[in-house]
Amino acid sequence: MSVDNGPLIIGFLCNWCSYAGADMAGTSRAAYPANIRIIRVPCSGRVDPLLIVKCFEEGADAVLVAGCHPGDCHYNEGNYYSRRRFALLRALLDFMGIEKERFQVEWVSASEGKRFAKIVTKFTEEMIERGSRKAS
Ligand code: FES
Repeated sequence: MSVDNGPLIIGFLCNWCSYAGADMAGTSRAAYPANIRIIRVPCSGRVDPLLIVKCFEEGADAVLVAGCHPGDCHYNEGNYYSRRRFALLRALLDFMGIEKERFQVEWVSASEGKRFAKIVTKFTEEMIERGSRKAS
């Protein structure tokens, strides 16, 4: 599945840092591709790895999870749990035949709007180069 102009990317953003960072990108007019569909979650630790598998199953070309920088999680250690879970998830995705490059985890603070825009732009460009998941 893809959007009109390229890959469909699902982005799970933690409410406290990365969603605010995406908001900052908007208010500071840092443009990024509209290929990302953002889902706001309370914490990156809330993102069940099976949700990511489900995204790929439903046709997403790529998934981005963004949360607070290590040590900055609003719930103290949610991003440490997610970091460990996602390390294991990569092995599962590989087993399922989904290229590991299609799943990305980033730490983005509320003040890093421009960085968020850069991450999404770069990730989108990489996925355009890689092509649709169905086509590969
Ligand atoms: S609240 Fe942002 S990663 Fe936990």
